[in-house]
Amino acid sequence: MITFRPQPKFDKESAVILLTSDMVKHSQFGSLSANIKKNIEVTVKAKQFAAETGQMFPLVLDKSICLLIGLGKKDELTLTSLRIQLKKAFCSAYLSKIKNVEIIPHQAEEVSINAIIEGILIGTYSWKKYRSLPKNDESIDEKNIFIAAAKKDSFERTITICAGMRLTRDLINDNADVVHSEYIEKTVRSLLKGRKEVKFELLGRREMTKKGLGFHLAVNQGSRYEPKLMIVKYTGNPKSKEYTALVGKGMTFDTGGLNLKPTNGIETMRTDMSGAAAVIGTLKNTLALKLKKNIIFAVGVAENAIDALAYKPGDVIRGYAGKTAEIGNTDAEGRLVLSDVMDVAAKKTGADEPEYLIDIATLTGAIKVALGGDTAGLFCNDDKLANSIIAAGQRSGEPSWRMPLIQKMWGDLSSQFADFKNSGGGFGGAITAALFLQKFTNGKKWAHLDVYCWTDKSTGALSGGSATGQPVQSVIEWLESV
Ligand code: BES
Ligand code: MN
Ligand code: ZN
Repeated sequence: MITFRPQPKFDKESAVILLTSDMVKHSQFGSLSANIKKNIEVTVKAKQFAAETGQMFPLVLDKSICLLIGLGKKDELTLTSLRIQLKKAFCSAYLSKIKNVEIIPHQAEEVSINAIIEGILIGTYSWKKYRSLPKNDESIDEKNIFIAAAKKDSFERTITICAGMRLTRDLINDNADVVHSEYIEKTVRSLLKGRKEVKFELLGRREMTKKGLGFHLAVNQGSRYEPKLMIVKYTGNPKSKEYTALVGKGMTFDTGGLNLKPTNGIETMRTDMSGAAAVIGTLKNTLALKLKKNIIFAVGVAENAIDALAYKPGDVIRGYAGKTAEIGNTDAEGRLVLSDVMDVAAKKTGADEPEYLIDIATLTGAIKVALGGDTAGLFCNDDKLANSIIAAGQRSGEPSWRMPLIQKMWGDLSSQFADFKNSGGGFGGAITAALFLQKFTNGKKWAHLDVYCWTDKSTGALSGGSATGQPVQSVIEWLESV
């Protein structure tokens, strides 16, 4: 629980005091009490603390602990660094056994306070479900946090968005046989309970067969779970007829199929539903924030499993658009499912036909090779749309980088006996994957985010071996901006 109080009170077990090196150098401690100021000055004089970036020093006072946190030079302080320092403070042993913490920000600026909130709520997330932890390991949820800042509306918004990101992360982190298609359906339904501004539509195996979603069905053929295509139509602005469609890849596990993934490639493939998880996190946030937008949330859930029934290399399959694909590689399954789902979402006829089509998918390993794990590859057929997505990513600290749709590379996917192949060629795998999707955009303004959504190693603000929750923050930021 986070409470905001305009003035610091120092009435809790502990305080976290954020200080820049400029403040320390010039003894400018704002609204701290005389006693604390004196203690800081003594510590500085004894050369124990200079508020360098990442420096931490615990002052033990009469009744409480004051944890001094160094932020470095004011001019060089970034929001990311601020988030990291908060995370470090809350992960440190100094606060591990403490229930009540008051945070004293270095300044009152709204963006800084928001970064502080994010640092606490996102940075300290860790996936603990299957770990036997000692009893005294207090999780952040059990702490009472008091921030010495006058309350602003944007703080509630940040807290809400962080909750959506935590849902996204929980869905990604858990086992593939826990978060299967039925579990995802239940999660979506539970978010929609009692909401009048939404309509829920579900296509299962039977409906997909009837409609001819051959790509989606083929990928799921070897799975014991039912494939599901879920569509939530949210009308937050009844006056407008414009919709944005958000489509997520929901591969609950990607073995690679008969083109089996190797050791050191398969271990994290429960995360191959990160796109769907991000769409669901965004749905949670949209409902909580009551966004005044019209949005179609579509998630395509399947499992690329191996079984006697699994689809096979060389198969020719017909998708919803009526086109046929030769299966060059069963591991290029994401584009198959997504193209069917995008096609369904784009063809929502009548007034609810979407203006924008945005898909989020852990589509290729190649994008990680090109851009690293943190930056999403953005493929887009509209410059204005691309720029607005990049800008939203910059504001929320979730970067994306525009990639080219090199049309002549479509030749890499030519087939001798089908309309095209689902894989082929060699280099530039993220581009050919995007070109495949582009065939199913139905003339909409379209953006495709090829994401990784995972941290192998701790990156400061995030702990390693965990889902990041990317790009939930930037998608909300973008939705609010258009
Ligand atoms: N889900 C994977 C992409 C992926 C790999 C995401 C590693 C995150 C980490 C996707 O389905 C896949 O297997 N893509 C193949 C395509 C290839 C067979 C054309 C790839 O990128 O190797
Ligand atoms: Mn795959
Ligand atoms: Zn995949």
